[in-house]
Amino acid sequence: MPTCHVYIAASLDGFIARPDGDIEWLHQWPDAGHDYGYSAFMRSVDGMIIGRGTFEKVLAFGRWPYDKPVVVLSRTLDPDAIPPDRADRVRIVNLAPEDLLERLAADGWNRAYVDGGRLIQSFLRAGLIADITITHIPILLGAGRPLFGALPQDVGLTHIETTSYPSGFVQSHYVVGRMG
Ligand SMILES: NC(=O)c1ccc[n+]([C@@H]2O[C@H](COP(=O)([O-])OP(=O)(O)OC[C@H]3O[C@@H](n4cnc5c(N)ncnc54)[C@H](OP(=O)(O)O)[C@@H]3O)[C@@H](O)[C@H]2O)c1
Repeated sequence: MPTCHVYIAASLDGFIARPDGDIEWLHQWPDAGHDYGYSAFMRSVDGMIIGRGTFEKVLAFGRWPYDKPVVVLSRTLDPDAIPPDRADRVRIVNLAPEDLLERLAADGWNRAYVDGGRLIQSFLRAGLIADITITHIPILLGAGRPLFGALPQDVGLTHIETTSYPSGFVQSHYVVGRMG
């Protein structure tokens, strides 16, 4: 099965979006255009698995931002919700995470980028996330869509490295599971 990897930005109080899904607070920083390792991370994956919430936000951008294949997990969306010009690169599927990964293995995927708060939480609960790169933005939102949520048991992490940037962004890389 492909391994699953998270690369995400969160407010210091742990939100990935405001309650209404707004992410403008992510883009208000003077050097928000800096890459922060995103391009290298994207090159390292075969494609993305995103939740419906993330898909609907990306559609609202008007410009499709991804070059890699994208799988949208949804139990409710019509497959026709895909922009016609992206139909070859995007598919909407209604599968449990494990079943999806088996299908992607058959497609030749080795590494998947999992994105969207509720989706990441679901993959974490299923023990399917290999590592997490989280960039903390120096802002407190007070409320919003959380990156992490309830778990059946503690999830130990191994800290690999942390890089702080002049912008105040602090990026940490964790492998899921305790090493050593
Ligand atoms: N800060 C960042 O770096 C960052 C990154 C990504 C996204 N975002 C923002 O976060 C927001 C979206 O995150 P979100 O947490 O609201 O939604 P999400 O995780 O993107 O999507 C959740 C939806 O995915 C569907 N789904 C299908 N299978 C699922 C499963 N096994 N587990 C969980 N969900 C499953 C469900 O939709 P159905 O009801 O259709 O089944 C569910 O409501 C957007 O505003 C986006 O812009 C921010």
